[in-house]
Amino acid sequence: MSERFTKAAARNIFYGGSIFFFVTFVALTGHTHFYIRTHSTDEATLTDSVARGKHVWEQNACINCHSLLGEGAYFAPELGNVWVRYGGRDDPQSAREALIAWMQSQPSGAEGRRQMPNFHLDDQQLNDLIDFLEFTSRVNTQNWPPNDAG
Ligand code: HEC
Repeated sequence: MSERFTKAAARNIFYGGSIFFFVTFVALTGHTHFYIRTHSTDEATLTDSVARGKHVWEQNACINCHSLLGEGAYFAPELGNVWVRYGGRDDPQSAREALIAWMQSQPSGAEGRRQMPNFHLDDQQLNDLIDFLEFTSRVNTQNWPPNDAG
């Protein structure tokens, strides 16, 4: 029987396959970054206040209780869509005021209800945070998460 699958052939398949999939991986990674910047994110509205709001979000570890676009903890409501749920698309000013008032009035102390601590954020931090949540609501996630609860 002729030996058609030689050591050299095996080596070529190994190296060829590795290079092929490595190049594919790099190309897909590049495409993902390109897609995020051009399709998923509205870069023009990524303002300084949005960036500051993200810091407020991180410094206070909101993600320890909440999910954002489906990622995070499931103790408290999903917040990627909170801007839309509070009617921000139709009436941005009322949504902003309602969200700020809501955060300032926590904890509610309501019996049997999960509580959110008060973070004692100042006006600037609160507004930056809302800008961040508003920006997040515009991220094109291709309908992820599939329901309001994250
Ligand atoms: C210790 C857990 C915890 C942390 C940390 C936390 N939250 Fe909450 N949050 C809650 C709970 C619980 C609720 C729901 C309370 C209720 O419905 O009475 C809530 C509700 C909310 C709501 C209203 C959501 C809705 O659907 O009505 C907003 C907005 C919110 N949180 C923002 C934040 C932000 C911003 C941070 C970070 C600065 C944060 N939360 C950190 C527990 C937390």
